[in-house]
Amino acid sequence: VAAAKGDYRHFMQKEIAEQPRALMDALRGRIDQERGRIELEDLRLSDDDLRRVRRIYATACGTAWHAALVAKFLIENLAGVRVEVDYASEFRYRGPILQSDGERDALLLAFTQSGETVDTLAAMEEARAQGAPSVAIVNAIGSQAARVADGGPLYLHAGPEIGVASTKAFTSMLVVAYLFALRLAQARGTLTPAQIREHIQALIELPGKAAQTIELATPICIELAERYHRAGNALFLGRQINYPIALEGALKLKEISYIHAEGYPAGEMKHGPIALIDENMPVICIAPRDHIYEKMISNVEQVRARHGQVIAIGHAGDTLLAEKANHMIGVPATLPLLQPVLNVIPLQIFAYHVAVLRGCDVDQPRNLAKSVTVE
Ligand code: G6P
Repeated sequence: VAAAKGDYRHFMQKEIAEQPRALMDALRGRIDQERGRIELEDLRLSDDDLRRVRRIYATACGTAWHAALVAKFLIENLAGVRVEVDYASEFRYRGPILQSDGERDALLLAFTQSGETVDTLAAMEEARAQGAPSVAIVNAIGSQAARVADGGPLYLHAGPEIGVASTKAFTSMLVVAYLFALRLAQARGTLTPAQIREHIQALIELPGKAAQTIELATPICIELAERYHRAGNALFLGRQINYPIALEGALKLKEISYIHAEGYPAGEMKHGPIALIDENMPVICIAPRDHIYEKMISNVEQVRARHGQVIAIGHAGDTLLAEKANHMIGVPATLPLLQPVLNVIPLQIFAYHVAVLRGCDVDQPRNLAKSVTVE
C-alpha cells in the first residue's frame, strides 16, 4: 500500500495532485472538437428520450450530494430542465412523486463515487419502481449503481480513490455533470452551436487550469494551515453555484481535521452564523468575479467589521478582493459554471494541511467509512 502512494505521504494528497489527470480522463473521448459536439457513448438515452425529460431528481450522499447541488445549476442553466436535489437517505423515505400516471418525463440522476452507497441505491430503486430511468455518475466500474442505471452509467474514469475524504472523484463528478448538461442541451437545442463550442473550449482548458490552481494554492494553503490549524470553528461562505463548494470546503475540513465547520450561503450569514464571528474565526469566502461578486464583497466587509479573519478564494489578480480580505488565494478564471471545479481545490489542500498539522489520520478519519453500504 505504501508503494501505491509513491512520493506522497497520504492518498488524499496524491489524489488531490491527480486531479488534472483525472479531469482529462473524464473528458477523454467525450468531446468531438471538430463538430463541436458532446458524445457520451455510455449514455443509454436517445435524443428523443432526452427531449422528453421535464424534471430531474438528483440524489446522492456526502460529497457526492454537493456535486448534485452543483449539477442543478449546470442543468437548469444549460439545458433548461428543472432539477430537484435530495439527500438519498431523505429521498427514499419521503414518498417522492417522480412522475404522475402516464407521464414519462422524469429522470433520476445519482452521484456516487463507489456505486455502493446503500441510500443512493435505494433511491435508484425507487425511480425504477416508478418507471423513471436513472443515470449514475459513478466512478467504480461495474459497481451496483453502474449496473442498475438503466439510462447508463456515466463513468468518471478517475481511477481508484482510497482516501476517505473524496477529492478527485468530486471534481470529476462536476465535469461529467457538465458534459451531461451539455449533452442534454444539445438534444434539446437550448444552446447555439457557438455556445456549445465555447463550453467545450473551457472544458479542454480546465485540466491545465486545475494544475495551475494546485501550484498557486499549495504554498498559500500551507501558510494558512500553519496559522489557523488551532481554530475551533470555521465558516465557509459562497453564493449560487459556489454555495455547494462552501459546503464541500466545510465538510472536508470537519471530516479530516475534526474542526467544527459550517458551510453557508453568504446571504444567509446575517440570519445566524454572524453571531459566531470573532477574531478567532477563519471565514473562507468564495468570491469569483461573477454576477454575484459585489454581494460577496459586501459579505466580506461584514465579516471584517466583526473582526473575523477572511480567507478569500477568488480570481488570481483580483486586487480589490485581496485588499478586502485578510488572505487571498487566487485561482485561474474559467466560465462561471465551471469555476467551482477550480475553487474547491484550495479548500481540499487547506483541509489536508490543517489535518496533517493536527496529527490526524488523514486517509482514515475516525468514525468514517469510504463507502457506506449499510444503513
Ligand atoms: C462516505 C464517504 C464520503 C462520500 C459518501 C458518498 O460518507 O466518506 O467521502 O462522499 O460516502 O459516497 P459515494 O461512494 O456514494 O460517492
